Amino acid sequence: MGKEKVTRVVLIGAGFVGSSYAFAMLNQGIADEFVIVDLNENKAAGDAMDLNHGKAFAPHATKTWHGTYADCKDADIVCICAGANQKPGETRLQLVEKNLAIFKSMVTQVMESGFDGIFLIATNPVDILTYATWKYSGLPQQRVIGSGTTLDTARFRFLLGEYFKVAPGNVHAHIIGEHGDTELPVWSHAHIGGVPVHTLVEQREEYSYEDLDHLFVNVRDAAYQIIEKKGATYYGIAMSLARITRAILRNENALLTVSAKLDGQYETDDVYIGVPAIVNRGGISNILELELSEKERGQFRHSADVLKGILAPHFS
Ligand code: 2OP
Repeated sequence: MGKEKVTRVVLIGAGFVGSSYAFAMLNQGIADEFVIVDLNENKAAGDAMDLNHGKAFAPHATKTWHGTYADCKDADIVCICAGANQKPGETRLQLVEKNLAIFKSMVTQVMESGFDGIFLIATNPVDILTYATWKYSGLPQQRVIGSGTTLDTARFRFLLGEYFKVAPGNVHAHIIGEHGDTELPVWSHAHIGGVPVHTLVEQREEYSYEDLDHLFVNVRDAAYQIIEKKGATYYGIAMSLARITRAILRNENALLTVSAKLDGQYETDDVYIGVPAIVNRGGISNILELELSEKERGQFRHSADVLKGILAPHFS
């Protein structure tokens, strides 16, 4: 039997999000090797030690160390979580200037290592920074992926599950668009066990459209609420990143609402934005085009236009 290829993930940025991702990755045993790179070498080294100490209890012996950009050469995935994060009340888009500068330097260093794998981007504003990574790296667009609205979709499924008393895994619904204030719920394709959500609202008195509107606001504003309470969000995004990583390394063809580059889908092009896409060993293999309602089409166009407006001064 041929030897299976060792899978390697390099994390850049061991802040709250990055180290929570590392913890999720080791607990789920997703990769064979996990390398942590951070400007603060002591933080990276300390995290690697700490995680290695838990290995006896993990499902898979992920080889973990703190490394350098040179380790990206043989990586299947480089996941970037580094950068400034939102202060209370600050929007994701307000981080753009600070984080674009950091990204240029990080992506250049990754590429100088000889990296030829898949970039997975989590830093905000994620749609903008994923586009920037695609531009700075020169890699094919299928191999540059943003976490997009994966987390928003998970929040949506969780809250819908609570409302309709169904496990989130049995709720099929998507949040698409910018990972941020202009994102939108695709109510026209929200189902529970094959039953459209709007049918449930029509059939049962205990449910209402007002509640659903309120539920979406709680999805959209979840990060503000968490940041207000504890200063940052990290577990949810870390688990979303672990999910995307697993879809890639295990060649799952999983449908996830990642940030993907559009080339005419949803009547939009030249932007990275959250849409349902098939994720496998090659990255994004396909973008699913939902048939949106008139209202949803307008909301999506607006979201894409906002992102394009941010990109324009930097990439035209
Ligand atoms: C989140 O949605 C802040 O983007 C981060 O949790």
